[in-house]
Amino acid sequence: MEETWQVSFESIISQIVERGYGILDGFLSEDEIGKLNESLVSHYQAHEFKQAGISKDHEVMKNIRGDEILWLERGDANEAETKFLERLEYFMSYVNYTCYLGLRSYEIHYASYPVGTFYKRHLDKFRNDSGRKLSFICYLNQGWQAVNGGELVLYLPDKEETVLPLGGRLIVFESDKIEHEVLPANRERRSLTGWLRNID
Ligand code: OGA
Ligand code: MN
Repeated sequence: MEETWQVSFESIISQIVERGYGILDGFLSEDEIGKLNESLVSHYQAHEFKQAGISKDHEVMKNIRGDEILWLERGDANEAETKFLERLEYFMSYVNYTCYLGLRSYEIHYASYPVGTFYKRHLDKFRNDSGRKLSFICYLNQGWQAVNGGELVLYLPDKEETVLPLGGRLIVFESDKIEHEVLPANRERRSLTGWLRNID
């Protein structure tokens, strides 16, 4: 098991080194996706989600960004969430071991995009905070089809890359380099989204 993870982590990390982003399918099993969906729904029903904002002031502008989010704290995490965070921490230490990025901490939130909402083209970097090195998104969408839309579009120097938000898929990219956009979907679109940081 350990070795399988190492191989897939090595593959996504070499993609990131070579072209600034990497994709790993099956980062979560169907069972893990199911449990994280249940967690998301119970947080949502407890009214813990808030309309997401932009920049450090968290200004709500639904014409730019329409998702609702809930920050996930290690200390509050349930069993499924803790398991996810542990895997992420293992990934982070693996990146440090192989790439010397000096990652020290992470921030992560659940995201739910209601039907028809989107996030316009942007860079995941605050003007007064350069701590975000790698952005990661792990999708929680069960049975997602191309007709559901909701693609992540990466704006690369020579082309645009379109990524479907398939359940269990992990995408990681350089936060300060790759502009990207979330297209509207005809189903609610769910993920765990965050950043690996080199300052606390
Ligand atoms: C973000 C973001 C992409 C996605 O939350 O900053 O760009 O595919 N998310 O959800
Ligand atoms: Mn983003």
